[in-house]
Amino acid sequence: TSYKLLLLPGDGIGPEVMAEVEKVVAWLGKAGLATFETETDLVGGAAIDVHGKPLADATLAKADAADAILLGAVGGPKWTGVAYENRPEAGLLRLRKELGLFANLRPAICYPALASASALKPELVEGLDMMIVRELTGGVYFGEPKEITTLPDGSKRAVDTQVYTTAEIERIAHVAFDLARKRSGRVASAEKNNVMKTGVLWKEVVTRVHQEHYAEVELEHVLADNCAMQLVRRPKQFDVLVTDNLFGDVLSDVAAMLTGSLGMLPSASLGAIDAKGTRKALYEPVHGSAPDIAGKGFANPIAMIGSLAMCLRYSFGLGDAADQLDAAITRTLASGARTRDIASKGGKVISTAEMGDAILRE
Ligand code: NAI
Ligand code: MG
Repeated sequence: TSYKLLLLPGDGIGPEVMAEVEKVVAWLGKAGLATFETETDLVGGAAIDVHGKPLADATLAKADAADAILLGAVGGPKWTGVAYENRPEAGLLRLRKELGLFANLRPAICYPALASASALKPELVEGLDMMIVRELTGGVYFGEPKEITTLPDGSKRAVDTQVYTTAEIERIAHVAFDLARKRSGRVASAEKNNVMKTGVLWKEVVTRVHQEHYAEVELEHVLADNCAMQLVRRPKQFDVLVTDNLFGDVLSDVAAMLTGSLGMLPSASLGAIDAKGTRKALYEPVHGSAPDIAGKGFANPIAMIGSLAMCLRYSFGLGDAADQLDAAITRTLASGARTRDIASKGGKVISTAEMGDAILRE
């Protein structure tokens, strides 16, 4: 089979790190591990420059038809003047919304060679390999009403509304438990049922999905504030951590800082499984367009290449190829190869392209 991949490099360092992914994609084909049909299109500021908006309808149609989407990053100072609903980030939000990408997977992996770059003591993070599963299309970021009104005395009142339905919690719970089956078999679910009704429902639904379908998986409930503390105190206690949109946003950024550099972290955003057993999926690094280093050739391509590894694993069931790619990244780092963001004392700093080549050699 040949898989249809849509590449959306975007802005800033996006195209630079995507170029390294293209090398890996070509290599996978030559090695007979996977064949891809790739197409490249514009998103974000690059699309604004050409189409006047950050995601053209034709691009969305291509995204809908693709087996998976790889995105670099969007945004940059060049487009700060454009209208809010037309800013570069709106292109990415529209993609997530239109494709129904409700499950955001963010691994936090601490490579042994980089443990000393963590915000924590190396022994607390060495060997850390956890997966945060964040609900991405519901909760307080989308609930209605959402408004700022003026009160009779002239002061204001702001409202955001946290809403979750049984169906929304069920489908994200399934994603988390399915993942746990393929990993260590442990799930922690974070909410605040002590002060929030959505937390009460979240805990109830996760508990039921667990009992009905995944009794062999170990489930633990943890209050979200305690979870933040535990992530910093003893992060290796977690394997799969499932939580809502808001808590997931915050907790995944905490987890990111345990691992060293933003340039190392991949992510996946998955939609529902359809009748054919396939699902929409977008893979992207966690970092942004890094305008401060764009065009200089020293961005770290590992987050982007790791996003391709997640794509192989979760969209195409190519776990062996994904394992090989992940192992190549680990060996490359162990050999001392470093881009500037992860440079260590005495190590040799190499370019984006050299890092891509080094990973290919491994
Ligand atoms: P950023 O992630 O682009 O950069 C933060 C810092 O990390 C910078 O110092 C940057 O040089 C460094 N960095 C990030 N990725 C790196 C890599 N691969 N290798 C080496 N160093 C790396 O976040 P920032 O500066 O807050 O945002 C810049 C632009 O990116 C903004 O327009 C923002 O809206 C956008 N953005 C886009 C995202 C996306 O496309 N998903 C996510 C986050 C921000
Ligand atoms: Mg965030």
